[in-house]
Amino acid sequence: MIEGKETLSGGAVLRYGMVGGGAGSFIGEVHRKAVAFDNTARLVAGCFSRNFQNTLATGASLGVAGERLYRDYEEMAAGEAARRDGIDFVVIVTPNHAHYGAAKAFLTRGVHVVCDKPLTFTVAEAEELGQLARERNLLFGVTYTYSGYPLVKQAREMIRRGDIGAIRVVMGEYPQDWLATPAEAAGNKQAAWRTDPRYAGISNCVGDIGSHIEHTVSYITGLRIQSLCANLQSFGPDRALDDNGEVLVRYAGGASGVYWCSQIAVGHDNGLKVRIFGTKGSIEWEQENPNYLKVALLGQPVQILSRGCGYLYPPAARLARIPSGHPEGYYEAFANLYAAFGAALTKHRAGLALTEDDLDFPTAAAGIDGVKFINCCVESSQRGSVWVELDS
Ligand SMILES: NC(=O)c1ccc[n+]([C@@H]2O[C@H](COP(=O)([O-])OP(=O)(O)OC[C@H]3O[C@@H](n4cnc5c(N)ncnc54)[C@H](O)[C@@H]3O)[C@@H](O)[C@H]2O)c1
Repeated sequence: MIEGKETLSGGAVLRYGMVGGGAGSFIGEVHRKAVAFDNTARLVAGCFSRNFQNTLATGASLGVAGERLYRDYEEMAAGEAARRDGIDFVVIVTPNHAHYGAAKAFLTRGVHVVCDKPLTFTVAEAEELGQLARERNLLFGVTYTYSGYPLVKQAREMIRRGDIGAIRVVMGEYPQDWLATPAEAAGNKQAAWRTDPRYAGISNCVGDIGSHIEHTVSYITGLRIQSLCANLQSFGPDRALDDNGEVLVRYAGGASGVYWCSQIAVGHDNGLKVRIFGTKGSIEWEQENPNYLKVALLGQPVQILSRGCGYLYPPAARLARIPSGHPEGYYEAFANLYAAFGAALTKHRAGLALTEDDLDFPTAAAGIDGVKFINCCVESSQRGSVWVELDS
């Protein structure tokens, strides 16, 4: 295949605002680029920082009208809800501590929400947001990036079709090394809040990257975690929160898994890797080599599937934007989540019922599962690495 592909959604009819993502931050700009990738929506409002000068400067650089730059998210939710041309959805990309308050402020005013992970500090808060969205008939997306990759969709579809049989064992890992030294004490802003319980919540490493393993595995396999046993550690000097964690997992139905997340694993950048072993075969996907999927079927030579090739199943094939061999990656995965969210929102606004396919992006339910996972890991570890039931 040598042809490219036009954008997935139509004109930017939708309007969005952003909370967080001010100058000097990380993920907000990734979200903005991802929304722009397919012309999914136009950025028209923002409270980009707790520092209003930063919000003003960021807004000016992004072409947002001054009257739609706000001092805090409450003012923004009220201001936008009162406008005839108010935002259709808000994107929340603050550190974890502000997700709950910001999401609630917009949901209660009838604005759809996209929020980054982990959704909230507590399970009760996450469930409350899910309940609010349901009651008010609002869409809620949670940006678990990795479910936006075409070959993750392929893995999910293969398992749904039974290609590798019944799942027996899952191995998931996410090693990084950026906190191998006390970066939080050396002026790294992102490290400072992630290692501070006031902003990160009860976990650093499991919350930040272990939650990505949990969601990616759950999305690909459909397995539900029944119980887990975790050993969380903090190797950084004077760190209140974990920077490394191992988790044993038992799924409903009898399969088992091992997850390892680490920020002190020297030599690793963003090494998310998931291996899934079934009765008839296995699948392996790595986020640092995301255009390929390793598949082994019992008694056959190992195959490497490539993004953009005609043999992929439709949910994966339709996401490929450029020919195989030209790498796609992080931005495209985020853009795929936004394209799905935007298409669902457009349909919803037209009064049409949404199907399971329309809702093929992480929703509040995934956010709630993530918070349960994090909380259970911390509880298990604190109680001496005992087995903890997820829905107890
Ligand atoms: N999906 C992913 O792969 C992924 C990757 C990185 C980060 N994240 C998540 O994104 C969120 C942000 O992470 P980051 O690394 O970009 O953080 P960051 O520190 O780089 O940026 C946070 C921004 O939020 C602003 N902010 C803080 N409190 C605010 C408030 N009350 N109102 C408005 N703005 C406020 C800060 O000024 C800053 O601009 C976190 O929840 C993190 O877990 C997700």
